[in-house]
Amino acid sequence: MKIRRFIAWLAVSAMVLPACRESRSLLSPDGKVSVDFDVTESGEPVYSVDFDGKPVVLQSKMGFELKGIDAGAGFKVAGVEHSEHRGEWTPVWGENASVEDNYNAMTVRLVKECDGGEFEMNVVFRAYDDGVGFRYEFPASDGDSLTVTDEYTQFAMPSDMTAWWIPGDYDTQEYEYVKSRLSKIRKYGEEEKLGNVSQTSFSPTGVQTSLMLKSDDGLYVNLHEAALVDFPAMHLNLNDTTMVFTSWLTPDRNGNKAEVKLPFSTPWRAIMVSDKATDILASNLIYNLNEPNALDDTSWIHPTKYMGVWWEMITGKSSWAYTDTENFDLATFDYSKAKPNGRHGANNENVRRYIDFAAANGMDQLLIEGWNIGWEDWYGKEKDFVFDFVTPYPDFDIDSLNAYAHAKGIKLMMHHETSGSIPNYERHMEQAYGLMNKYGYDAVKSGYVGNILPKGENHYNQNSVNHYLDAVKKAAEHKIMVNAHEAVRPTGLARTYPNLVGNESAMGTEYRNMSPGHVTILPFTRLKGGPMDFTPGIFRMDIGSFVPGSNEHKKATVANQLALYVTMYSPLQMAADLPEHYAEKADAFQFIKDVPVDWSRSLYLDAEPGEYIVAARKDKKGDDWYAGGVTNGEARDYTLDFSFLDGDGEYEATVYADAPDADYETNPEVYTIERRKVTAADSLAVRMARGGGFAVSLKKIKK
Ligand code: NOJ
Ligand code: CA
Repeated sequence: MKIRRFIAWLAVSAMVLPACRESRSLLSPDGKVSVDFDVTESGEPVYSVDFDGKPVVLQSKMGFELKGIDAGAGFKVAGVEHSEHRGEWTPVWGENASVEDNYNAMTVRLVKECDGGEFEMNVVFRAYDDGVGFRYEFPASDGDSLTVTDEYTQFAMPSDMTAWWIPGDYDTQEYEYVKSRLSKIRKYGEEEKLGNVSQTSFSPTGVQTSLMLKSDDGLYVNLHEAALVDFPAMHLNLNDTTMVFTSWLTPDRNGNKAEVKLPFSTPWRAIMVSDKATDILASNLIYNLNEPNALDDTSWIHPTKYMGVWWEMITGKSSWAYTDTENFDLATFDYSKAKPNGRHGANNENVRRYIDFAAANGMDQLLIEGWNIGWEDWYGKEKDFVFDFVTPYPDFDIDSLNAYAHAKGIKLMMHHETSGSIPNYERHMEQAYGLMNKYGYDAVKSGYVGNILPKGENHYNQNSVNHYLDAVKKAAEHKIMVNAHEAVRPTGLARTYPNLVGNESAMGTEYRNMSPGHVTILPFTRLKGGPMDFTPGIFRMDIGSFVPGSNEHKKATVANQLALYVTMYSPLQMAADLPEHYAEKADAFQFIKDVPVDWSRSLYLDAEPGEYIVAARKDKKGDDWYAGGVTNGEARDYTLDFSFLDGDGEYEATVYADAPDADYETNPEVYTIERRKVTAADSLAVRMARGGGFAVSLKKIKK
């Protein structure tokens, strides 16, 4: 115990527990992670975290400002209980067939006098080998409610750490990450010009979680939250003199943070820590802090590889809309009299072409956007009734297209763009899911582009957070899997509701121009809460080569795009490019056809945030392994050691690599494909081009 804490301990213990008292410290099962809790002289709850003797979070405040109650001071400790948990759980889908879940826990019961009565607040800590979680419980009796006006939780960082961050924002995470010292967050725009972020945050030192940090003495620390249920998303606001982050809850339209019914447990505040970057990638802390699977039957949930009538709209080759008419009332607009614009992507003929290709190449599903009426008049309109989610455009025959797909062994994937009108989506949800059941869709990509309605609400406040989870729960009742774009960033809820198979909540492939390092940061940040529908697999990097007038370029090589199927885990993976672009590089497309979307084992072999990631994974359904590596804007030589392979076998390795002259800017589409036999004793020297990577399939040779 540090001296200053010891003195505080003497003072408090003399008042509250004169004789002896329970330990207020907690160690992880391996003893490396430690948490110390205390209350200061004025009764403020405080905590600190160490890893292997090094400070991770210095003594930091806890608690809340509640309407009528200051739940941040005046507390006495009424009791401390310790417990432990050792176990593992089996995910429906995941990076590993089972997940170890071992922690030691400590519940501190705090009491303060309040209006002649007693106010109770518990703090529950869990120490795992890969980090710490803590949450607050308000145990008061049923029926009462509390208004949360602020959160006091702090994370006092021990030094001016390096951070990979995106600015605080109540509505979007679609930013490029910036790497800077904490002390440079405020001034990065003027001094460092890193990334292309625009400073739209609520505070010039506000950032979003999951926040990746590294200390000069080699500790990797990640701050996030877990089990965000019935509460607003937490941002972090930095005091850049003291390096103390304070929780900044997303406000609702009245400026309040949350209304909660008692008893209530807050989301977990989570701190991942290790001296190895790869441990952060492998950490299951966020899932372990979430509740177990809540669905009785999960037999209908399945990992999915899909293509889409999508990239052609995103790139501007075709349109979501059927006509060019604007400014109309969807309830009265007569599509049969409207003039088609001739560029509508989701037309019967084009959709059949995609179905043919997707089915012939082993895809599970085909997403079709722009199938339903309303796309002429949605973007930026803040219309309450913007889509009905059930009426197809005149040239989209929903009945026969589903039948055609099913006959070929694939399913269509539904698309619900809500345009941020949550009330409209909630009014139509039952009939929208009902239509999906009628035609045999079992997955929906939903989206929340634009300002959230009701007006004044935003994407990450309590009301919206509740809506996203509600939509997932209602979908489960209809046996529907959900992939929600623009929803709040995930916090591990897919463990509890495994039909939440994907989210966007970060900059994905649809931003063609983001820098190559982005994909080496996402697995350290965005992916810690759950899988991302990143939509990899772009083979034509020069968009102008198929969309006249476009000067956009994707900043990646083909081998890099293949590697993403291994380095960015998701049970939902898209092959995002157009069928004709896969047909012209059919040999490289073979990797996308082969790569599984569910794994029995995953290994992060080497990594550094913002620089490179190398991973290997074993197919859940068989003995084959897949490996992948990605680099940022720097070329890199790498030696892939095959010792991860199961010791007893020989494997047919197919190596997809950057050609010697590949470069994401000057020559992104050149690659080599080589085959060789390997065992666990072999290794492979491979060069990753700037913005490049490599992918390897390792098929076990049957004796
Ligand atoms: C934004 C989503 O991220 C994108 O994938 C989708 O195509 C558009 N919204 C339209 O819904
Ligand atoms: Ca988006």
